[in-house]
Amino acid sequence: MPELKTVNKRYYVTTPIYYVNDVPHIGHAYTTIAADILARRNRLSGNEVFFLTGTDEHGQKVEKAAREKARSPKDHADLMVKNFKELWKKLVISEHSFIRTTDIEHIKTVQGLLQLLWDRGEIEKRQYAGWYCTPDERFWTEKDLVEGKCPDCGRQVDQIQEENYFFLMSKYQERLIAHIRENSSYVMPETRRNEVLGFLNNNDLGDLCISRPKHRLAWGIPLPFDDNFVTYVWFDALVNYFSATRYLTPQAEQARRGDFWWPASLHIIGKDILTTHAVYWSTMLMALNMPLPRTIFAHGWWTVEGKKMSKSVGNVVNPLTLVDTYGIDAFRYYLFREVPFGLDGDFSEDAMVNRINTDLANDLGNLLSRFLTMAEKYTDGVIDCQGEAGAAVGQSTAELAGDSETVIDELLEDAYWDALRFNIILERIWDIVRAANNYIARTEPWKLAKNDMGAVHSVLFNIWNALRVTALQVYPFMPGTAVKIWKQLGLNSLTDEVRENGDGGGESPRIFSWNWKPSYAVKVAKDEQLFPRIEKITDKTIDKTTERTKKMTEETSRAGASNVKAGSPEGSTEVPAANLAEMANLISIQDVMKVELKVGLVVSAERVKKSDKLIKMQVDTGELRQVVAGIGKAYTPEELTGKKIVVVTNLQPAKLMGVESQGMLLAATDADGVPVILTTEKDVAQGARIK
Ligand code: ME8
Repeated sequence: MPELKTVNKRYYVTTPIYYVNDVPHIGHAYTTIAADILARRNRLSGNEVFFLTGTDEHGQKVEKAAREKARSPKDHADLMVKNFKELWKKLVISEHSFIRTTDIEHIKTVQGLLQLLWDRGEIEKRQYAGWYCTPDERFWTEKDLVEGKCPDCGRQVDQIQEENYFFLMSKYQERLIAHIRENSSYVMPETRRNEVLGFLNNNDLGDLCISRPKHRLAWGIPLPFDDNFVTYVWFDALVNYFSATRYLTPQAEQARRGDFWWPASLHIIGKDILTTHAVYWSTMLMALNMPLPRTIFAHGWWTVEGKKMSKSVGNVVNPLTLVDTYGIDAFRYYLFREVPFGLDGDFSEDAMVNRINTDLANDLGNLLSRFLTMAEKYTDGVIDCQGEAGAAVGQSTAELAGDSETVIDELLEDAYWDALRFNIILERIWDIVRAANNYIARTEPWKLAKNDMGAVHSVLFNIWNALRVTALQVYPFMPGTAVKIWKQLGLNSLTDEVRENGDGGGESPRIFSWNWKPSYAVKVAKDEQLFPRIEKITDKTIDKTTERTKKMTEETSRAGASNVKAGSPEGSTEVPAANLAEMANLISIQDVMKVELKVGLVVSAERVKKSDKLIKMQVDTGELRQVVAGIGKAYTPEELTGKKIVVVTNLQPAKLMGVESQGMLLAATDADGVPVILTTEKDVAQGARIK
């Protein structure tokens, strides 16, 4: 699919620009991580990359959200943008440009293009009567309506009659059909392409209303040729992909003079906004005589444990909490391994934990740690990169090399990458990982170490090599993990190494190939485990993510909005279920699980000087710690010594009368206010965790 490849080694990838009416969730994270994977992969392949994301800040939705928070739309946008920027940091989104539709350069570009279309007669002013869906900001004809309601969102529509400006989109229907037919990868995946073609073949494309009278909506870009109107938010938003090339590209100076970065290589979007991109944006560009993007890829929709994500259901997944619990790379891996990109997916924490334990901890993590342990044990960590596989392991080695090379060649061919088949790419990378694990099982280096050190060296080098090519291939998906593997393999910086050896040079093999070898001596360096196994989900993290989303929404509500009255603007008194627990001062099971309680044996005890209440104890809770407790009036040190008590072991140390306490003893208080120490009903070994 050559259409997806870069032009002059330049690759320009975009995400949708997200509305700032709400805080970001897993859906926004998904699209942006997909773009990041492609940006990283292209950089690794030596292409220059322009990676654009940003926020859509005009229009009715944002104006309404701002009004509800008693803020100006711009103030509201300024606050909300921070949530997106912070999330991108947390998701390790690589170097990118961030466009805001309130940027002055963008506004000028939109106005410039509108003027051009107006001057060319591509826009007309007309009297218009039709049905209008306010939340969707879209006009519908009578026949579009479904049972008198908006066909998109099912909400009530209003009859509106007013003068407006129309972009003569209908003129381009045939040209658009031809373009999509002739360019098999213009709209992807295939099902979406068929959907758009089906729509265009069976319906007359109308003209597109691209203005809103200011008296109805003031928050938008004024039309350059009629100050009584602002620009329809979608016309404004779609132009971002082009306007950014005027002032946000890696070489902004060149962009100002030339046209290097347009057209985009790829617009990644969700399937919800396919029509606006495949039809509106394409015809806008045709009318402007500008090249069309190479590909528009519409991915599928995430639901959460079978349900559509929605604030009212209270199941909006906040990626921040998942990342805090499971780590960013596990989260990125799960999203792109679990569901073929393009299809809908259902987010399930159980499935995610399963993936972490099998693919990441068992297959990849174990491979690395077994390898490092053997390397340290048998060769003092030194890897002999030049040796030949001896007869004892020749056959197995040839098979490992063959299997790995097949995968590497397939992935370098780009077919999977061009089709954005992320899950297949990961599956194929894991074929190398599994082949390497099998190789260990077949060659049994622990047996070879008894009498054939030459073979041990050879086996270790081949496992090392399998891990090296794996690290390179997983880098776009899990950059942190790739770098950790790379470092533990004793190699220099991954990105520097790729920059220097990415395309080989002369006769030498490319760094991606099985036959590449470092030009320096390699000594492995064992570090922390990549992915510790997750034993059990004690309580769902995704429940916490909902709380976090709520908290973020509240925080952004409070910020700068001191004059907002309590209660919802509509005067609704309904209290969402999630609020009830908070109001009753209840804590969640996750809060309880944060407290680490252990059985401790009091090894020795003495009174703290000048205190009749405090006793200092040395307690064995699996490790020895000092605990100071105010029980001196109820217990003597002698009574305490040898007792089993219950201790909070993850409490920050504190000083009581100058004596440090590294935990807290649990005690009840009897009717006279005297402390009574808690102990276990039967004898339990010290160090046992209490749950
Ligand atoms: O539509 N599953 O912005 P938006 C997968 N401003 N992806 C999801 C998702 C889900 N459940 N929910 C959201 C807009 N997304 C316009 C775009 S572009 C010129 C203007 C992702 O904040 C997906 O990429 O509603 C979807 O297309 C996008 O967020 C919509 O973001």
